Amino acid sequence: MKSLSKRILVFGSSGQLATALRYLTGSTAHDTKFVGRDSADISAIETISEFVQWNPDVIVNAAAYTAVDAAESEASEAHAVNVTGTSNLVSLAERADVPLIHISTDYVFDGHRLSRPDWYSEEDETNPLNVYGLTKLEGENIVLQYGKGIVLRTSFINSSTGKNFVKTILRLASQDLPLRVVDDQLGCPTSASQLGEAILQIIDSSEIQPGLFHAASKGGASWWEFATEILNIAGIEKEIEAIPTSEFPLPAKRPADARMSSAKLKEQYGIEIADWKQGLRPVVKELMNERS
Ligand SMILES: NC(=O)c1ccc[n+]([C@@H]2O[C@H](COP(=O)([O-])OP(=O)(O)OC[C@H]3O[C@@H](n4cnc5c(N)ncnc54)[C@H](OP(=O)(O)O)[C@@H]3O)[C@@H](O)[C@H]2O)c1
Repeated sequence: MKSLSKRILVFGSSGQLATALRYLTGSTAHDTKFVGRDSADISAIETISEFVQWNPDVIVNAAAYTAVDAAESEASEAHAVNVTGTSNLVSLAERADVPLIHISTDYVFDGHRLSRPDWYSEEDETNPLNVYGLTKLEGENIVLQYGKGIVLRTSFINSSTGKNFVKTILRLASQDLPLRVVDDQLGCPTSASQLGEAILQIIDSSEIQPGLFHAASKGGASWWEFATEILNIAGIEKEIEAIPTSEFPLPAKRPADARMSSAKLKEQYGIEIADWKQGLRPVVKELMNERS
């Protein structure tokens, strides 16, 4: 079935997800507007209110304070974007009377696997371990109170743009130093394109159903497995030492096992995000092409 053209307003134009969405929507009939922080700071409502006049059919919030470690010492900055900014976008969506698709994180969970047998579902209790996760959870709750709010929790986003783990591993692999990566933190590495495609499928669905959904790839991996696969795809032979988190202390605590099941997304929307290795391959290939 051919999808209808919609007017999609996206906040956070230069981030990993927004960049993927810009590329993906380029080959659709949708009319899009990507708004960057330079013209609209989501934490300042007066800078975003005017966008209601663009008459969007749907708003996507791809903007966020995402510096997990810096958030520990910049809690008010993180709160301003992830809580106040989200609340401002809900107000905008309410005024326009349109759905708001908002992105959240597996870091709303504490990752204590012993307390549950399966991967996290939307029903599971949240308990963020860090400031970033706390602000993202607060943002989720605000969106979910809006009758047309959709929250998509995702994990370990990777892409060929911006600052991210894939680039870091490729850079470190080219240096003449041992490579050590933690293997006791697990998530569901999801490429920005995989997430962007899921968002477009939601937008293209006949009826946008509000609620909370996990939107992450299949498979699940530790950071060490993720790093190993990056080098494998890149064809780089270099050993990566698997280390415990205790040997790589960072300011923010992270969940040990935050793997999420995206079964609800499949049940309600028929959307299935593929295996993480499938999403990662084009990301690594693109970065390798850029280098050559
Ligand atoms: N990255 C991950 O591994 C990961 C994992 C789970 C969930 N998520 C969530 O997924 C979503 C997308 O993440 P991402 O990796 O695409 O993020 P990203 O690359 O860090 O991009 C975030 C974007 O938000 C913009 N922004 C920050 N503060 C803003 C403000 N006050 N007003 C307007 N724009 C602002 C940034 O602009 P500047 O470039 O100007 O700073 C940037 O363009 C976020 O909600 C994030 O919390 C990410």
